[in-house]
Amino acid sequence: MKNTTPEMTLDENPSEKSMPEKKPSRRVLLFYSSRFGHSRKIAGVVADEIRNSGLAVDVEELRHGATIDAQSYVGAGFIVSVRYGFFTSALYETIAAHKAWLDATPTLLMTVSLTARKPEKRDPAKHSYTRRLLKRTNWAPTRVDVVAGALEYPRYGAFDRACIRLIMLITGGEADGCSEIDYTDWDGVRDTARSYAKEVRAAEDRTASGLRNQETEDRRQRS
Ligand SMILES: Cc1cc2nc3c(=O)[nH]c(=O)nc-3n(C[C@H](O)[C@H](O)[C@H](O)COP(=O)(O)O)c2cc1C
Repeated sequence: MKNTTPEMTLDENPSEKSMPEKKPSRRVLLFYSSRFGHSRKIAGVVADEIRNSGLAVDVEELRHGATIDAQSYVGAGFIVSVRYGFFTSALYETIAAHKAWLDATPTLLMTVSLTARKPEKRDPAKHSYTRRLLKRTNWAPTRVDVVAGALEYPRYGAFDRACIRLIMLITGGEADGCSEIDYTDWDGVRDTARSYAKEVRAAEDRTASGLRNQETEDRRQRS
């Protein structure tokens, strides 16, 4: 299969793109944090794959004070980019605020960075930003994917462009100050989304079967 880049502009809102008219009951919530729109684009692709597997998806920008309605969702994902070594502090806040629910629910973490353009860095244990995030939050998402982001010099202001040029120079990347390079393995992103959707469905089936067993047991005790 070709590693096709999804066509989506910054102005499109992935949450509105293919929202079904009637909301199915089993919903997954995807948060994204994105400075120049790349992680948002990834969130849109992940959402489409999850929807293709029969689950409904809501996509929201991760902001301070974000809440998760535990009754409405059977899974949650976070697609977050690295900026000067850090993820948004809203990520830490949201994980801390919903830690018990996240620990008991199928979850997905996708970290997006230029460091991950090097294949050896895509191992979560070797990707320092991801490792640090997981250690600090003491969170073990069901699925973690370290995704290579995009280099987009024309979008950066003078300061950011100078910093990114320097970082790319030091790390052996493109330092011309004008290139646009998409390093994302889009097929890999779709694969991760499909595997995650399978895990959500499996967890759902286990819950349904547990409920059925409980009902049978209740009926047996009543009779
Ligand atoms: C100002 C700025 C700072 C960045 N800092 C880092 C960094 O510290 N480490 C890294 O691996 N990538 C870094 N990146 C790369 C981004 O994570 C990458 O370009 C990603 O695709 C941005 O996604 P977004 O548009 O969703 O924010 C930086 C990019 C910019 C523009």
